[in-house]
Amino acid sequence: MARLCSMGVAEAITRRESVRSYSSEGLTLEELAALLWATQGVRRVLSPVSALRNVPSAGARHALETYVAAGRVEGLPSGLYRYLPFDGQLAEVYLDSRIGWRAADACLGQRFVAAAAVTFFWTTIPARMEWRYDLAAHKVIAIDAGHVGQNLYLACTALGAGTCAIAAYDQAACDRLLGVDGDEEFTVYIAVVGKR
Ligand SMILES: Cc1cc2nc3c(=O)[nH]c(=O)nc-3n(C[C@H](O)[C@H](O)[C@H](O)COP(=O)(O)O)c2cc1C
Repeated sequence: MARLCSMGVAEAITRRESVRSYSSEGLTLEELAALLWATQGVRRVLSPVSALRNVPSAGARHALETYVAAGRVEGLPSGLYRYLPFDGQLAEVYLDSRIGWRAADACLGQRFVAAAAVTFFWTTIPARMEWRYDLAAHKVIAIDAGHVGQNLYLACTALGAGTCAIAAYDQAACDRLLGVDGDEEFTVYIAVVGKR
């Protein structure tokens, strides 16, 4: 990540903004890997069921999962992928040459989503938090998602890419797109990324 960055954290904070217009240049696989590392990368495995990551999480429960709708990433066929943070790998969910348009449809027709290189979809598996935090689980899941989103904003800025958070989306359509059941696992946050 550091090798790819053209600026330090103070400059990235100063320059951070929501970007909705992207160049036709895609992301490299290395840049996508850096963004996944910044948002969910595992730092230290504590036990078979817990780990510290590059973002904080209440009780280190890490109840978020990352899906990437990749439309323009060098060397990666267009489609939906799931990030496997413990392996630092992407698992193919399905290939689809129209994944960008499908993501835009699920985001209530926000057209700039279709022009993105990738769209991050974060789901939650709330049970990971609920057994420990009960009714407060949903509050801390939302707070966790905010940290992930902010790391993505800063990492994109430092890499010369742009991102825009999205919370205006069709819940059922996003869950369908990702193939999650909308109950045990459902979409909580989205961010669109492209080169500036
Ligand atoms: C939780 C959240 C949801 C957002 N949802 C959308 C969205 O659905 N569509 C959009 O174009 N921008 C969305 N934004 C971006 C905001 O409009 C943007 O952050 C705000 O206008 C301030 O601009 P700035 O990020 O450049 O400082 C969202 C931002 C946040 C934090």
